[in-house]
Amino acid sequence: MTYGLHYGGGVFEGLRAYDTPWGRSVFRLEDHMRRFIESARFLRLKLDYDLGELCEGVRSVVRTNGPNADYIRPIAFYGATPNLSMNPQGIPTHVAIVTVHMGSYIGDRQMREGMDAIVSSWEKPSNRATSSMAKVCGNYVNSALAKFDAVQAGADEAIMLNGNGTVAEGTGENLFIVRDGKLITPDLASGVLEGVTRDTVIKLARAAGYDVEERPITRGELLVANEVFMTGTAAEIVPVRTIDGVPINGGRPGPVTLQVQRLYNSAVRGEDARFVDWLDLVERKDIELLKV
Ligand SMILES: Cc1ncc(COP(=O)(O)O)c(C=O)c1O
Repeated sequence: MTYGLHYGGGVFEGLRAYDTPWGRSVFRLEDHMRRFIESARFLRLKLDYDLGELCEGVRSVVRTNGPNADYIRPIAFYGATPNLSMNPQGIPTHVAIVTVHMGSYIGDRQMREGMDAIVSSWEKPSNRATSSMAKVCGNYVNSALAKFDAVQAGADEAIMLNGNGTVAEGTGENLFIVRDGKLITPDLASGVLEGVTRDTVIKLARAAGYDVEERPITRGELLVANEVFMTGTAAEIVPVRTIDGVPINGGRPGPVTLQVQRLYNSAVRGEDARFVDWLDLVERKDIELLKV
């Protein structure tokens, strides 16, 4: 009788914990949990916890579950419905935080050599159908269909177009192309999640001197791009080596992708002093000391 199961009425987040020189840290914890609260607001799902309590909940689960807990999944959903009505008002909300050991989400080889992607025939729901900015459980049926087709086709991941026919994103990743030394990623109106990793990459790339543009990307641009890579908390930074069998950059990860991957790996592990504000140590709160 759980409303969230019948109708997809729930929201979730995905975070990662990394070892840093100062102990275990959850990367951009507050940014993720702020989005969790915003997703819940979109679904009119009342959370009984504020941002501080949710963040402490994540820290506490990571502390308890130990070093193997590298991926964290908070979820909030409407619970038991008395009469199976579509109206969720009055149904109690449940919140849970679980961790798993994920390791590399797409695969170790794909992280090094690049992954194979297809353009899915399933399109992203339009901005009139739902909000791609909210991580609503029900939205992910669409991603699951596309992922299934990608795997059936022998590929690693699907790229979805939106109702306008321009590029949106992967099933659980944002997408970037590199063209003439510039990074381009679909804008929010293209129907994408406002990814925390997308934002991290934009900031890391700009700090490294790259121009980054957010604008619609056509399917054709994917195939003539110098490089394509995908970003996500679970996936991290994954080069794309083929799209629908067409090699990108000769079928090898390109130099900009590899640089972004290196910068990201350093930032999440606290190895880049410029970005320690993004760390959230689960054992200690004296992150201010790191900056002196
Ligand atoms: C549809 C979709 N796009 C993009 C992302 C990447 O977002 P983030 O970098 O915040 O993990 C995710 C993962 O949460 C996702 O589910």
